[in-house]
Amino acid sequence: MINMQTPNLMEAKKRTKIMPKTFSYVLDDKYKDLGQGKKYFIKTYGCQMNEHDSENIKAILEEMSFVETDKMEDADLILLNTCAIRENAHNKVFGMVGRIKHLKESKPNIIAGLCGCMVQEESITDEILDKYKWLDIVFGTHNISDLPKLLSSSITNKSLSLEVYSIEGDIIENIPAKRDSKYKAWVNIMYGCDKFCTYCIVPYTRGKQRSRKPEDIINEVKKLKHDGYKEVTLLGQNVNAYGKDLDINYEMSDLLKDVAETGIERVRFITSHPWDFTDEMIEVIAEYDNVMPYIHLPLQSGSDRILKLMGRRYTKDSYLNLYNKIKKMVPSAAITTDIIVGFPGETEEDFNETLDVVHKCKYDSAFTFIFSPRIGTPAAKMKDDISLKEKEDRLHRLNEIINEYAKEANDKYLNQEVFVLLEKISEKKENMLAGYTDTMKLVNVKAPFSKLGQIVKVKITSVKTWSMDGEIVE
Ligand code: SAH
Ligand code: SF4
Ligand code: F3S
Repeated sequence: MINMQTPNLMEAKKRTKIMPKTFSYVLDDKYKDLGQGKKYFIKTYGCQMNEHDSENIKAILEEMSFVETDKMEDADLILLNTCAIRENAHNKVFGMVGRIKHLKESKPNIIAGLCGCMVQEESITDEILDKYKWLDIVFGTHNISDLPKLLSSSITNKSLSLEVYSIEGDIIENIPAKRDSKYKAWVNIMYGCDKFCTYCIVPYTRGKQRSRKPEDIINEVKKLKHDGYKEVTLLGQNVNAYGKDLDINYEMSDLLKDVAETGIERVRFITSHPWDFTDEMIEVIAEYDNVMPYIHLPLQSGSDRILKLMGRRYTKDSYLNLYNKIKKMVPSAAITTDIIVGFPGETEEDFNETLDVVHKCKYDSAFTFIFSPRIGTPAAKMKDDISLKEKEDRLHRLNEIINEYAKEANDKYLNQEVFVLLEKISEKKENMLAGYTDTMKLVNVKAPFSKLGQIVKVKITSVKTWSMDGEIVE
């Protein structure tokens, strides 16, 4: 079979000192008409990295003359961009694969493919080769730019083209993007992750940390600003470690400053690992009005014992110190978090330490998860004797408290004036537009359609736990 390259977990674990080279993407002329008269459908699971990868995939397909459809049943090419972070992500994807198989039975010419983080897992490609050989293309997170070649080969050979590299390749600049929004854009600043938190699959599925060159990032932001974008979100699995792999004396605080100085109206960044969060970073957030006072600061656990087992390299106290420093230097900052309950061996005392941090930080909101063992990670091998019922109970108790503080944080906004970038038609409220405050609060605003894409001053008229309503003030 042609094009068969499967991932290998041992290889994916390796970290080399070799600096990645940067190459520029170009589409070979021979692929430009491959999608003539054909429609594609892509469904994206997982985090913002995957969303942005899908924006790249869409643009590559459109350069190949494919046209997008939002109905899977109408598509000639169906792609699922998958996530591997927890077990339920896996189940959702294989549920969808079942539906595609059904479709393919009545329309055998459909090209069906999987890409993204899940296929970077050795156990998943083994499963694909065992049970899902009828799929047409499978490619990983390191070889998105090979999509035209893989598609062409699958069409010509009428067989599965599976190519997933374990070792990350080079940084490919200039991959086009069909962005979901005309007003706000994702900008990758780095790829991969070297933190190896013991529960997490990302360092394996996304590979070694590779930072893009500062000038490439700044030029992308300048171009976006020129094209009318109002907001950029700098993306990375732990953005605070930006630049540590480059041979230049330049770190995240420098990048944030240089991006702010492009003058684009709003700059955001996700995700921050508490370990690398420097004072210089906080100073830049405090100093520049266009760096948004919103920080996602994953806690994971409040117990020092569990944090150590997780390999997070901070303690409850050092986390709280950082939190307090941010709140002191940027009083308006909204801080959100991620928490895992039921990590192997987590006792009621450990869980209470987590609740204690939640009570102290009164987060604006939080994503909370039950620990999900991922094959190949150290935590998956740890003794786990807590019942699912107990884990569900902890999650429930945690969520109740998180929700109370989220409502409390939102309540402070009532009758206040805030700035909102109106980015879409409200999904919940008729004749309203919706957008986010500087602090990332969702607001439905009574405003004419013509205001779409503008940052407007809004007075908050009512508040709920997860959204607010408001009116434009002239
Ligand atoms: N790079 C980010 C996290 C990305 S994954 C960071 O370090 O903050 C998003 C969240 O998923 C994590 O913060 C964690 O809370 C959760 N998560 C990751 N692996 C998990 C697992 N095996 N089980 C349950 N939740 C997990
Ligand atoms: Fe996963 Fe930890 Fe890296 Fe975040 S920092 S992606 S949780 S290994
Ligand atoms: Fe999922 Fe991969 Fe993101 S595992 S959370 S899509 S980096």
